Amino acid sequence: MVPTSSKWVLGLFLVLAVAAVSEAQLSETFYRLKCPGGPAKVAETVKTWIARDKTLAPGLLRLHFHDCFVRGCDASVLLDGSNGEKFAAGNKNSLRGFNVIDDIKAKVEAICPGVVSCADILTLAARDATLLIGGSNWSVPLGRRDGIVTSKAEADANLPSFNANFATLRNAFSSKGLNVSDLVALSGSHTVGFASCGVMQGRLYGFNSTVKTDPALNSTFASTLKNLCKQGDFTTLIKMDLSKSVDTWDANYYSNVMNGRALFTSDDQLRRNSAGLSVVQSLRKSPSPFNRAFGAAMVKMGRIGVLTGTSGQIRKKCNVKN
Ligand code: HEM
Ligand SMILES: *[C@@H]1O[C@H](CO)[C@@H](O)[C@H](O)[C@H]1NC(C)=O
Ligand SMILES: *[C@@H]1O[C@H](CO)[C@@H](O)[C@H](O)[C@H]1NC(C)=O
Ligand SMILES: *[C@@H]1O[C@H](CO)[C@@H](O)[C@H](O)[C@H]1NC(C)=O
Ligand SMILES: *[C@@H]1O[C@H](CO)[C@@H](O)[C@H](O)[C@H]1NC(C)=O
Repeated sequence: MVPTSSKWVLGLFLVLAVAAVSEAQLSETFYRLKCPGGPAKVAETVKTWIARDKTLAPGLLRLHFHDCFVRGCDASVLLDGSNGEKFAAGNKNSLRGFNVIDDIKAKVEAICPGVVSCADILTLAARDATLLIGGSNWSVPLGRRDGIVTSKAEADANLPSFNANFATLRNAFSSKGLNVSDLVALSGSHTVGFASCGVMQGRLYGFNSTVKTDPALNSTFASTLKNLCKQGDFTTLIKMDLSKSVDTWDANYYSNVMNGRALFTSDDQLRRNSAGLSVVQSLRKSPSPFNRAFGAAMVKMGRIGVLTGTSGQIRKKCNVKN
């Protein structure tokens, strides 16, 4: 028999626990009453931009990843400031799509002022962009709020490097609640978009003191890359998936990884560990479960460190706090 006072304490505890959970919860219907046209306005605006320039789609996808890995998905990547995330090594002269987000925000503010967060816009835009280049749909839990802090140092510490080995990648993802399946599925987005020759210099021309070119690269592919990216070229952009002339959203990345035809050491490392290799092999199969795995992993990524309830704010403009 539990004494009445203990029951009361237990009851209070349960109420508080439920409140804590529901506060951290995101919901697909979050804007249904608050701004019913919001998510559609995001989709419509993304569509207009991508109709003009398809390469913005990978840009928007990467923007969401780089937001979520630093202080959670709180749109901190969008904030201006000389010591902000935009100036981190992995972001500077590389992230694209800020102007698209600003345009979406202006259009959404015009229909529902002060309601839809920049963090949710980034999440929706990543999904909408993926859909427009041939990805499959997934539903996006909403209700994130915007942070007010952005830090270059935190971005440098949290964004994995293209030189990272498997253990480093696994740790970087697991510290965000993402496992090896998520790491491999999300890396599949390297089937689209562009990389700078700057990130290829090491693998092509300075692997180590005795070996110039990374032996993990397919030798034919290494020659192709050396033609595209000359030694000392830090600016030319090359396609992430060079096996096709026009970008398509597919599971081809996993074949590239197996054939030594993926651009980065971080890509190649996915096959150098048995857990990673087994996910690469399963996503490489045809028909590939890649799209389903990708959508599920994106939803998980979109939940990292979110601000909900009364935390944070709804920015009026995405590049500055209110
Ligand atoms: C696993 C660790 C990862 C590393 C080390 C990494 C690294 C990189 C690097 C170095 C680039 C080229 C950037 C440039 O040269 O400008 C790039 C591009 C890209 N990454 Fe990743 N990435 C990782 C994971 C992800 C994830 C999780 C996503 C999305 C879910 C993603 C999406 C993209 C996209 C779409 C591009 C092309 C961007 C564009 O065309 O503007 N990456 N990544
Ligand atoms: C994608 O799925 C969401 C949620 O199920 C839905 O609201 C949206 O209309 C879908 N988009 C497309 C283009 O099918
Ligand atoms: C990773 O997490 C997902 C669920 O979020 C699960 O389905 C999958 O089996 C996990 N993978 C590993 C390697 O633990
Ligand atoms: C350079 O890389 C090659 C190939 O992986 C390796 O065999 C060799 O030991 C490395 N040398 C140094 C000095 O690290
Ligand atoms: C190099 O690439 C070709 C074409 O994809 C592939 O057939 C071959 O097996 C690759 N070589 C290695 C060592 O992975």
